Amino acid sequence: MYRRFIILILILIPIVLLLIPIAVSELVDELEHLGRYAAATYERFEDWTDPNQCTVCQHPDIRATTLNTTWAGLLTRGFIGINQPNVIVAFRGTTHIMDVLTNSHAVQTRWPPSVNGSMVHEGFLAAYLDAHIMDHLSLIMADPQFRGYQVHFVGHSLGAAQATLAYAEWMLGGGDAVLTTFGSPRVGNLEFAQLVNTREFWRVVNRADIVPHLPMKLMAYVSAGREVWVGDDVVECESPGEECNEDPRCSASVSPFLWNLVDHMVYPGIRLGIPKYFEQ
Ligand SMILES: *[C@@H]1O[C@H](CO)[C@@H](O)[C@H](O)[C@H]1NC(C)=O
Ligand SMILES: *[C@@H]1O[C@H](CO)[C@@H](O)[C@H](O)[C@H]1NC(C)=O
Repeated sequence: MYRRFIILILILIPIVLLLIPIAVSELVDELEHLGRYAAATYERFEDWTDPNQCTVCQHPDIRATTLNTTWAGLLTRGFIGINQPNVIVAFRGTTHIMDVLTNSHAVQTRWPPSVNGSMVHEGFLAAYLDAHIMDHLSLIMADPQFRGYQVHFVGHSLGAAQATLAYAEWMLGGGDAVLTTFGSPRVGNLEFAQLVNTREFWRVVNRADIVPHLPMKLMAYVSAGREVWVGDDVVECESPGEECNEDPRCSASVSPFLWNLVDHMVYPGIRLGIPKYFEQ
């Protein structure tokens, strides 16, 4: 009996060891899939069908997606796309993320109004509100032909901040959704982070990307979401818990002297060439 148990363990150990990398590579596949949507927001919607203009749009994920709503305001750009069985709400980032972060002095404003104590970055909120997407999304989700579809909010950079705000508003309105952010700045205070952490979501951070470290914690900004730290390895970091702590073994371990903007442009599914990023 005892010997049989030992044999079982000896068989199980290699199987478990084999399964761990598979689980991580499935996560990477999913992040690349969602990252392509975040990357596609940087392209002109008219160019999506033109292989010479838009490389990422030639991927089957994007080709299979029907655009339902697009918006292009002064501060915000993005789309709602339908790719059965998912509805993807993607927000574009900005080349001027460092300007937005430094010029705005990290001023916070009360939002959402129904949540006591919750405060968010005024500039990020202005960009999000400029998109006016909730009515469009509600219309889609009320349509019987999309019953049971899963809403995904995605975004990179400033787009990640807007996706987080949209997710908060949608969830508060009783909706269901999955949020995934790439290179997100901190969006609000502890109460806001606790609100969006009600349901766990992935906050992807690449190497020494500076943006996820801003605005600073001493300005009362708190990161939300469970970090996935992408480097030579992909690390699924600890869940943030009630205090919304950052896992000290993940991007929080990187010295501020190493923080940089180059690492902000390269995420799973997202390869924003630096010249291209800056010319927009
Ligand atoms: C917010 O706080 C006020 C005063 O403390 C209280 O009356 C109200 O019910 C609270 N609202 C929520 C949504 O918790
Ligand atoms: C978007 O979806 C809604 C709900 O199905 C529909 O009423 C609307 O016509 C769609 N818009 C476009 C541009 O396809």
